[in-house]
Amino acid sequence: MNQNKLFNEAADCNKHPILEVLKEQLNDKGEALEISSGSGQHVVHFAKNFPKWTWQPSEYDLRCLKSISEYIAESQLDNIFKPLLIDLNTCDLSSLKENKFDLILCINMVHITPLKCSESLFAVASTLLKSNGKLITYGPYSVNGLLTPESNVLFDLSLKSQNADWGVRDISYLEGLAKNNNLILRNTVEMPCNNKCLIFVRKLE
Ligand SMILES: C[S@@+](CC[C@H](N)C(=O)[O-])C[C@H]1O[C@@H](n2cnc3c(N)ncnc32)[C@H](O)[C@@H]1O
Repeated sequence: MNQNKLFNEAADCNKHPILEVLKEQLNDKGEALEISSGSGQHVVHFAKNFPKWTWQPSEYDLRCLKSISEYIAESQLDNIFKPLLIDLNTCDLSSLKENKFDLILCINMVHITPLKCSESLFAVASTLLKSNGKLITYGPYSVNGLLTPESNVLFDLSLKSQNADWGVRDISYLEGLAKNNNLILRNTVEMPCNNKCLIFVRKLE
């Protein structure tokens, strides 16, 4: 395997059920931005399956940016743009047009970053999504303070032991961020391995 290409086992598994959610949620055509694209496995899989959509990956980690570029080159797809450097800590969005995207997708980032990154994610969505555009997040979440099952509780503890600013977030916390940024939680989809997809929609102007 090319030395720049990263491989994430979890991404290889969850790309299938996440694709099914996208098939239910997306129209025929549109423009998507992925935040925290990781290795690049997801964006290539989704671009292959949504050829009429354009896909803009992004990352803040330079190794991931290289890996994403390798996956794109290997795929030979022409509907994926060069990955952008987007760091949710600084959020320089000057290279992107406001109200441009129909979808912002963010997989497994919210619990592995400080709260500031989730706050930025919703601010980015508010700026970059078209009216009625969707922000879809995927990961483990607690509901009204209750985290289940036990494996997610242990996962949360292990995250916090690695970094005190990390941890599984409550859906009500994310709903609050959505509300402050002109978005609304429209749907929660139960996913395999005790994860969920949260479908937020940017309110009509
Ligand atoms: C668990 S990985 C998920 C990657 C990918 N979405 C996936 O599901 O395979 C979390 C990602 O968050 C990214 N990340 C961490 N801090 C970030 C920041 N400040 N801005 C943007 N992305 C960040 C990491 O680089 C990493 O790729």
